[in-house]
Amino acid sequence: MIRIHVSPTDPDLLALEPAAEALRLGGLVGFPTETVYGLGASALDVGAVRRIFEAKGRPATNPLIVHVADVDQARSLAASWSPVAERLARALWPGPLTLVVPRGAVVPREVTAGLDAVGVRVPAHPVALALLRLAGVPVAAPSANRYTRLSPTTADHVALGLAGWLDVLVDAGPCAVGLESTVLDVTGAVPRVLRPGGLPIARIREVVGAVDVLSGDCVEGQLPSPGLARRHYAPRARLVTLRAEELEAAAVAACGERVAVVSRRSFSGLPAGVRCVQLPAGAADFGALLYETLHRLDATDVTLVLVEAPPEGEDWLAVVDRLSRAAAPSRA
Ligand code: TXA
Ligand code: MG
Repeated sequence: MIRIHVSPTDPDLLALEPAAEALRLGGLVGFPTETVYGLGASALDVGAVRRIFEAKGRPATNPLIVHVADVDQARSLAASWSPVAERLARALWPGPLTLVVPRGAVVPREVTAGLDAVGVRVPAHPVALALLRLAGVPVAAPSANRYTRLSPTTADHVALGLAGWLDVLVDAGPCAVGLESTVLDVTGAVPRVLRPGGLPIARIREVVGAVDVLSGDCVEGQLPSPGLARRHYAPRARLVTLRAEELEAAAVAACGERVAVVSRRSFSGLPAGVRCVQLPAGAADFGALLYETLHRLDATDVTLVLVEAPPEGEDWLAVVDRLSRAAAPSRA
């Protein structure tokens, strides 16, 4: 694997060329986006797309998001492009929004897990955009983590899980948004949020008016979006979400465990040895640091992470969604 370091704001195109070349030749490339790092391959190369699934250990029933450099390239991958898709794309791209649109015939079924819809997005990261333009091909890319594990917000996270699979890893430092894109299905009469994420739903409403939001509690087997498996985004340590006033007692009661408390407030009465991480009070700032914090705790001997439950409200939906999946028991 070649590892390339570039500036996050003004990447050297010559330095990026080997990554673009690897994509054109059917290789696998880890690269930064504003949300999380992606595991990219040419979306038009069925063999390369199959290797993404292999590298992640991901079921072939989970569709991939296709990353493109601009709205025109996105439209070229769709069988039809509605006025709503056009309005959203013009207003909110580049950005952490994936639009699910009717799949054009150029997109192999392997990319969409057999579905007749394809997820597309233009990422708002100068390095991702430069790489997409240089490569000249649409790039299918899930988050660059093994299936069900924490998403990567640094190149080191990617290397930990996938080094053996990558041809090139592009390192441009940490991702600013820190949570995956908001996935919006625009194939129906009313746009529907399939996965809350880095783009606030309020921003989508400003552009198109009414939006349906799926409840996070879908039963597997009846998932409207096949990637919404119950356990996902999970750290190695067990994760439990509790109300703020329950955290202290739970930390005291967890004898025999190495405990960390992740909260929006600070604590004075925690038992010695309990690690305490205070995260920002705002949803976006909290979300930006969540995966990074869990990765950091996973690198220690912590066995139990107690997380303060986020407040109510739409702004927190993405964080609530990721925490509830991270806390879900793994199926035997
Ligand atoms: O921010 C992100 O979205 C990151 C970066 C790398 O762009 N990518 C990402 O991809 O999170 P992934 O594969 O980990 O999650 C994509 C999810 C799928 O699991 C699925 O829920 C939804 O997006 N999705 C993709 N294509 C779809 C489709 N055709 N129909 C319904 N849902 C789709
Ligand atoms: Mg993922």
